[in-house]
Amino acid sequence: MSDFLFDETTRSYYAQRAPEYDDWWLGTGLFAQRDRPGWNEEVAELIEIVAGLPPLRVLDVGCGTGFLTSHLSGEVTALDQSTEMLAIAATRIGHGDRVICGEALPLPFVDDDFDIVFTSHFYGHLPPAEREAFLAESRRVAPDLVVVDSALRDGVEPVGWQERVLNDGSRHRVYKRFFGASELADELGGTVLHDGRWFVVVAC
Ligand SMILES: C[S@@+](CC[C@H](N)C(=O)[O-])C[C@H]1O[C@@H](n2cnc3c(N)ncnc32)[C@H](O)[C@@H]1O
Repeated sequence: MSDFLFDETTRSYYAQRAPEYDDWWLGTGLFAQRDRPGWNEEVAELIEIVAGLPPLRVLDVGCGTGFLTSHLSGEVTALDQSTEMLAIAATRIGHGDRVICGEALPLPFVDDDFDIVFTSHFYGHLPPAEREAFLAESRRVAPDLVVVDSALRDGVEPVGWQERVLNDGSRHRVYKRFFGASELADELGGTVLHDGRWFVVVAC
């Protein structure tokens, strides 16, 4: 299995997943059956953290449906490679914010175009070479980076290929990491903003 993040298979996975993506956040659809103690409460905490980030020029990389993007304040730019995801994000984000369809590697922006790069559940999908490239790109366009991702917990492998099943029964493979908050902070040279059962947030 290739370590390469972005091939046509991954692209079609996100295109197909877009209309059902928020079921994961909301605990609806296939996720209604999942036993996720404290999930809704922690999503609410996460939203508060996101809403409390400084209202500056913020770039959300891999914004997906904009579930968290809509809670960012300031001058927000939401980037994703998927038009299907962005169509949903566009219905959510604030008046005056931008949605841009494009690739994260490299980021389609000039140096220092933003104050903060924000990214949720994107960094953990990057294999090592693309991780380094993303961090370099993030630093090129903004001095600060905030990473939200999945917390390491019992029953999950810290890193590996996961099988994902969509509503139509189709099966897809996705590269995925789960993080201890302090390990992620060490990796990024940052500080922990949230260390939960389901999510970690690190700023650097
Ligand atoms: C797991 S989703 C996370 C969505 C959202 N940030 C959230 O937390 O709900 C990952 C998103 O990253 C986007 N993505 C993946 N690789 C990308 C790339 N190379 N450039 C731009 N977007 C990418 C996908 O289209 C998808 O919407």
